[in-house]
Amino acid sequence: MSAVVIVGAQWGDEGKGKIVDIYTEFAEVVVRYAGGPNAGHTLVVGSEKLVVRLLPSGILRKATFCVLGQGMVVDPTVLVGEIDEVKRRGHGDIEKRLLLSDRAHLILPYHIDIDTLRETSAPKDKAIGTTKKGIGPAYEDKVRRTGVRAGELRNLSRLVGRVEMALQAWAPTIAALGGTLPKAADIVSALEPLAARLVPLLGNASQVTDDAIRQKKRVMLEGAQGTLLDVDHGTYPFVTSSSAVAGGAAIGAGIGPNRIDTVLGITKAYATRVGSGPFPTELDDELGQHLRNVGDEYGSVTRRPRRCGWLDLPGLKYAARVNGIDGLALTKLDVLTGMPKIKVCVAYDTPSGRVDDLPIDLLEDGEKVTPVYEELDGWTESLDSCRVLDQLPPTARQYVRYIEERSGVPLYLVSVGPSRDATIVLHNPFVGRAAAP
Ligand code: GDP
Ligand code: IMO
Ligand code: MG
Repeated sequence: MSAVVIVGAQWGDEGKGKIVDIYTEFAEVVVRYAGGPNAGHTLVVGSEKLVVRLLPSGILRKATFCVLGQGMVVDPTVLVGEIDEVKRRGHGDIEKRLLLSDRAHLILPYHIDIDTLRETSAPKDKAIGTTKKGIGPAYEDKVRRTGVRAGELRNLSRLVGRVEMALQAWAPTIAALGGTLPKAADIVSALEPLAARLVPLLGNASQVTDDAIRQKKRVMLEGAQGTLLDVDHGTYPFVTSSSAVAGGAAIGAGIGPNRIDTVLGITKAYATRVGSGPFPTELDDELGQHLRNVGDEYGSVTRRPRRCGWLDLPGLKYAARVNGIDGLALTKLDVLTGMPKIKVCVAYDTPSGRVDDLPIDLLEDGEKVTPVYEELDGWTESLDSCRVLDQLPPTARQYVRYIEERSGVPLYLVSVGPSRDATIVLHNPFVGRAAAP
């Protein structure tokens, strides 16, 4: 039995796509367990770059079966578009190795409209900075019990009544936002060509995933977003609407928590956030702009500039706790090349004294907390060709070991570039220890 969860340890965009793709060489099944097309996971293989939003990041591996789990919210138009794009790129077999949970909820056009209207009409300090992909409203429909599930695409004539019910519930909101209430019949007829494509992919994702684990296949459970965007554990209300943390993998994939062997947390060597909300180590200056330029810190799908800052160790320890992280993948170390000094936040000064935990309640309340930094020496050498830890310049190695020691979590992998090969693998949770560090 081998099921590994990959989870973002920060505010998303940590490089989950690359890490899933790397380890998927050893996995038979990859299951996306939460979120929807708010995600953008970048895969770089040779000169090819693909950003997947709904498809699991195992999709470029021909031997890998990919599952969209019931914890997801799926925009059928985006999914069909992505499938076609991957086929155009020469992966004609993709529908044979793809399963869409019939319990995943659908994002319908009114979810996107409501998300967009709310964001554009909110005062600047209240807007979440969502991706405007309809994520929040789709999950709202799910918990209000007015959502439409992918399995309902099998019987479109029955769907009109279900959509009608959802629209009635939304009508006051849409009116208050100045929008127009759509007609259920129009929404359902637009779904017809999409249903023809997606119904053949529907299935019982929980059964398939659990069977694979019981058959001792290696299963990767791919998270989206990140710990600090999780609806329970993130910087509420500036969060997404799903359970991004590792615990969400059991629910979102439909397996028991005891089936999970390893939780792998992904963190950048610094920090980024896109959208609004607290970010205490943010660098709102030239240094932040430098990280943005060198790290190409612009949304993978939206190209929104990402806010950049120093690594937050209390935040990383918080992520280690709420996810039960066993190992860390440290990405984008190469982006720090050329910085004479690198700062790391190790604690916070708060009105009631110094703490080395993330003071998330104070952050949410907008209280003034001041990061306490330690400073480490930088390096000037390019890391592009480093494939084992010993090839890193001594100060880069020191930085990596410092993060490992101070977070209390062993490092499984260090990434030094966007491509598959720009990677130092220290430990592979599917096959045991790789080349000695
Ligand atoms: P995800 O949402 O967590 O999958 O991350 P994204 O794909 O949104 O953003 C990560 C970005 O960093 C992508 O452009 C990746 O190609 C790139 N990336 C991943 N790892 C590295 C790395 O080690 N170094 C550099 N320079 N870029 C990386
Ligand atoms: P991946 O999987 C970074 C952020 C949005 C916004 C908040 C809520 O690529 O790491 P939503 O549209 O979900 O209602 O927006 O969450 N957000 C992400 N930030 N990476 C992501 O996904 C994100 N998905 C959502 O910017 O602040
Ligand atoms: Mg992303």
